[in-house]
Amino acid sequence: MNTATIGLGVDLEENKRFLGLDRVADRPFLEKIFTPQELDYCFSRPLPAQHLCARFAGKEAVIKALRQCGQAITSYQDIEISHAADGAPVVTLAHRPTVRITISLSHSAQQSAAFVLISL
Ligand SMILES: CC(C)(COP(=O)(O)OP(=O)(O)OC[C@H]1O[C@@H](n2cnc3c(N)ncnc32)[C@H](O)[C@@H]1OP(=O)(O)O)[C@@H](O)C(=O)NCCC(=O)NCCS
Repeated sequence: MNTATIGLGVDLEENKRFLGLDRVADRPFLEKIFTPQELDYCFSRPLPAQHLCARFAGKEAVIKALRQCGQAITSYQDIEISHAADGAPVVTLAHRPTVRITISLSHSAQQSAAFVLISL
C-alpha cells in the first residue's frame, strides 16, 4: 500500500514589512521574492502591501511544509502563487511538478496569514 508523505505549513506576517514599496525603485528587493506575474497582480490592487505580504507568508508556509517532507527550496522565486478562475490561490513549484500543494491566504489591514498542505 502506498502512503503519502504529508507536510503542513503556517505563517503569519506583518504587512508593514511591505508598505510603501515602489515597483521600480524597490525592484532588487521585490524580485528576490516575487515573480513578475505576482508583482503584476499585487501592484494592480489598491493595497499592494497586503497582497505582497500574503504571498510572502504563502511562500514561507510552503517552505515549512516542504521541510516536513524532507525537501528544501533555495529560492522564493521557485514558488509562484497565482489564482484559479474562482479567485482561489494556486501554488506552482518550479522543477517539482508532482508535488501537490493546497494553500489558503488571508489578510487584514495589519497582518497576512497562509496555511499550506503538501503531499508527495
Ligand atoms: C473568497 C473569500 C472567502 C475571501 O475572504 P475575505 O475575508 O474577503 O478575504 P481574506 O483576506 O480572508 O482572503 C483573501 C484571499 O482569499 C483568497 N481567495 C479569493 N477567492 C477565493 C476562493 N474562491 N477560494 C479560496 N480562496 C480565495 C485569495 O488568495 C485572496 O488573497 P489575494 O487576493 O491576495 O490572492 C470571500 O470573498 C468569499 O467569497 N466569501 C464567501 C461569501 C459567500 O459565498 N457567502 C454566502 C455563503 S456563506
